[in-house]
Amino acid sequence: MLPLIAIDGPAGSGKSTTSRAVAARLGVPYLDTGALYRAIAWTANQRGIDPRNRAGMVKLTENIKLNFTEGETETRVWVDGKEVTGELRTHTVTKMVTPICEIHAVRERLVELQRRWASRGFGVMEGRDIGTVVLPLAPLKVFLTARPEVRAVRRSLDLGIVDDKEALSRLAGELAERDRRDSQRSNSPLRQASDAVVIDNTDLSFNQQVNRILSLAVERFSLKLYGVNS
Ligand code: DC
Repeated sequence: MLPLIAIDGPAGSGKSTTSRAVAARLGVPYLDTGALYRAIAWTANQRGIDPRNRAGMVKLTENIKLNFTEGETETRVWVDGKEVTGELRTHTVTKMVTPICEIHAVRERLVELQRRWASRGFGVMEGRDIGTVVLPLAPLKVFLTARPEVRAVRRSLDLGIVDDKEALSRLAGELAERDRRDSQRSNSPLRQASDAVVIDNTDLSFNQQVNRILSLAVERFSLKLYGVNS
């Protein structure tokens, strides 16, 4: 069986770095589906479309040309031929993406693109609803999580604001709000698939969590990987 792995989890759980490392070690492609939702938010911002304007958002989603490919360190995304990869992690996009990913038409279009990507049968796909909605038949599903305060500190390290107590507390609040909205939306909420393996990485090192997933893959897909036991 070819290795096709769904990795879900809340913001700041280390999904992206972990998924990328797992994919690199297995020699399969990696897709960060959050980047696609962010690309829609980026476009809405550029065009001045309010995320609450559902009709406007549906039209935008139907009309834009979205291309993506695997980059050295992240999923690269193009909107109507323009590369937007470097512009997807701004505060504005992060704020706009939450209401946008609740819109049914947006999810429908992106889920279709994601399934097409996975149709070759191998790869590591990371997001919020991969194991539950996008690839319900994925042979290996992982739900990665960590305590909220640990996730907030990790995000602040990414942003270089770990010494700023006020910024850290604001970030923790925003993360909690994003978790709440991601988990409570009616359309494809963040939740673990019943057959997902849950890995709480609060007390795990990066290498430990990557190795844990690789061990699962070795076992599930009958692989041989140097230095990894099932
Ligand atoms: O993983 P991220 O922070 O880049 O995701 C951006 C937003 O997109 C986040 O609010 C959750 C949402 N998302 C989603 O709803 N479904 C996915 N499969 C991936 C991301």
